Amino acid sequence: MDIFDNSDYLKEEIDFLKEDGKTIGFVPTMGALHDGHLSLVRKSKAECDYTVASIFVNPTQFDNAEDLSKYPRFMESDIRQLTKENADLLFAPSESEIYPDAIARQAIPPVKLGALEKVMEGARRPGHFRGVVQVVHRLFDIVKPDVAYFGEKDYQQLAVIRTMVQQLELPIRIIGCPTRREQDGLAMSSRNMRLNKKERKDAAVLYRALQFVRNHWQKYSVGQLTDEAIRMIEANGTVKVEYLQLADGATLQQIESMDDAKHIRCFVAARINNVRLIDNELVLFKG
Ligand code: PAJ
Repeated sequence: MDIFDNSDYLKEEIDFLKEDGKTIGFVPTMGALHDGHLSLVRKSKAECDYTVASIFVNPTQFDNAEDLSKYPRFMESDIRQLTKENADLLFAPSESEIYPDAIARQAIPPVKLGALEKVMEGARRPGHFRGVVQVVHRLFDIVKPDVAYFGEKDYQQLAVIRTMVQQLELPIRIIGCPTRREQDGLAMSSRNMRLNKKERKDAAVLYRALQFVRNHWQKYSVGQLTDEAIRMIEANGTVKVEYLQLADGATLQQIESMDDAKHIRCFVAARINNVRLIDNELVLFKG
């Protein structure tokens, strides 16, 4: 696997590959890789001629300084894992490579996220999605992929990226990939390693609650479903729900009845001490 930290050299390499007719698949990440990230790499490998992964812990998308400073960094083992998956190239830029000056750090592409930014993660993490749009746009501009892969684990982020690509008319296909889970159902996340043994075990209740909603929507009202799911999660006192709601899978706006949308998902954000976890699950898809 080739490793680049310089965007000009990377651009040259990509131009060369494109002239050769190769399709470029791209997997942007912030490192601390786990099988969720690697599943995106495998999908890109299966579908594209050449797979680029990036590792960059983007400071502009963190609304919390402690979260940024505690973000895990494991470059060596990340490189080993990407090499094992036969990724073709890793782009691992420094902060000054992505944001060379104050102007670049302030520049946000003109994307109107509207209501998408005002719910769930957007409402709880002010500026977070603007930071995501900023860095992914910058990375797309450097890597110029034909296809880019994102996880459904961060469903709202996936919707934000789709909105950006649509509004800016970028010639990039965005593929959403299913959430990879641990054996007990907990969604894989680099934040899971901050949980102690008991917290880690208790965290699996999030998935059990999502499964409860998925399996019982015909029997209960939306209000009853969410009340019961929150009760389940908070029952043993370790996990505190920030929000749990059913929302339209296309617009991500909250629904009040199962007749309100064709595609309905349940979204949850919860805290276990200082660790904030998110997850979501399909509840209903009327084809
Ligand atoms: P990061 O959290 O490192 O995630 C990188 C990609 O892996 C995202 O598309 C995310 O949705 C996906 N992913 C994470 N956990 C997953 C899981 N359990 N199953 C499947 N996919 C999973 O998301 C980011 O980085 C950043 O916001 C980024 C897009 C790189 C911009 O900085």
